[in-house]
Amino acid sequence: IFSGPISFLKSAPQLQHLPDAEVPEIAFAGRSNVGKSSLINALTGRKALARASNTPGRTQELNFFDVGDPLLFRIVDMPGYGYAKAPVQTVKKWRYLINDYLRGRTVLKRVFVLIDSRHGIKDVDKEILNMLDAAATSYRIVLTKTDKIKASELEKVVAETQVALAKRAAAYPEMSVTSAEKKGGIDELRSAVLEAVYI
Ligand code: GTP
Ligand code: MG
Repeated sequence: IFSGPISFLKSAPQLQHLPDAEVPEIAFAGRSNVGKSSLINALTGRKALARASNTPGRTQELNFFDVGDPLLFRIVDMPGYGYAKAPVQTVKKWRYLINDYLRGRTVLKRVFVLIDSRHGIKDVDKEILNMLDAAATSYRIVLTKTDKIKASELEKVVAETQVALAKRAAAYPEMSVTSAEKKGGIDELRSAVLEAVYI
């Protein structure tokens, strides 16, 4: 499926611009700069399908990608949350957009919540996880940038995150451990995405 046709459909700066809810959707959410766009590129095996950048706040809208022809499902690249330097109004706008989409989208099958493996789950992440638990929106944690830490540190953050997940209502019990840079965990992530689409 991921070696077949995948194309950018549209950007939605506001909820009224969402595409019709016609196929299952899988969304990638997480803090600004955590690696959402890069992971979508690794997942789909394309260099620049989603726009990644060193500058936090790169993705500012909900970006929809069509997978399959005929269309099978959509991948959604989301703006990051917790970007302190963005103007207050912009942060507010993003928060509404992200929260409304994540709470109310009927075709949303699972949210992949990305967590930087160097930092683990922080307060800004907890905020969104709490929201997803409250809305009963299924999500799966994905640790990112694992090429940046030592194996022993990774082991520790995996264990800690696992414990934190056990208490969360809408969390998928297993998580993904990835490096977009070194293509680590990408095959497993592909399986996790397909599993979420076809449940
Ligand atoms: P926003 O759109 O601003 O919310 O960011 P994002 O979450 O989409 O992050 P993006 O994919 O743009 O990546 C941010 C930075 O992290 C870029 O400089 C990437 O090259 C880098 N990056 C992403 N994934 C990895 C990874 O697995 N390993 C390493 N070393 N760097 C990564
Ligand atoms: Mg992005």
